[in-house]
Amino acid sequence: MLRQIDHIGIAVKNLDETVAFYRHVMGLEVSATEIFNDMKIAFLRIGDSELELLEDLTPDGAIARHVAKRGEGVQHVAYRVDDIEQALQDMCAKGIELIDKHPRPGARQARVAFLHPQSTKGVLIELVEPQASSLPAH
Ligand code: CO
Repeated sequence: MLRQIDHIGIAVKNLDETVAFYRHVMGLEVSATEIFNDMKIAFLRIGDSELELLEDLTPDGAIARHVAKRGEGVQHVAYRVDDIEQALQDMCAKGIELIDKHPRPGARQARVAFLHPQSTKGVLIELVEPQASSLPAH
């Protein structure tokens, strides 16, 4: 059901500074940028997965609250699925608390849903069904 790590979401204070770190120190390149839901987002590809760097543009958004409370760092882990409705149904049947009972639009026109960290051993989990045309050709 889970195909691979789609991306790891990292909350940052300053997207440009963080992108510079990942480019110059880690040697990764930006594969996409987007303003989405009042967040500045940069994706950096590594193998079949990506890092998703997120800077909030509003002080009361989830990313800004994460940074205020815990500092910068990993905010969520996203798994790629083929059928997000089915995945949500399976998780629900297993007693997992869903933040999103139905898929909602995510960055890059993916369909996403979050699982509550209280029922996933402390990790905010995102399920991602990518838009078909956004997948890299193999
Ligand atoms: Co994400």
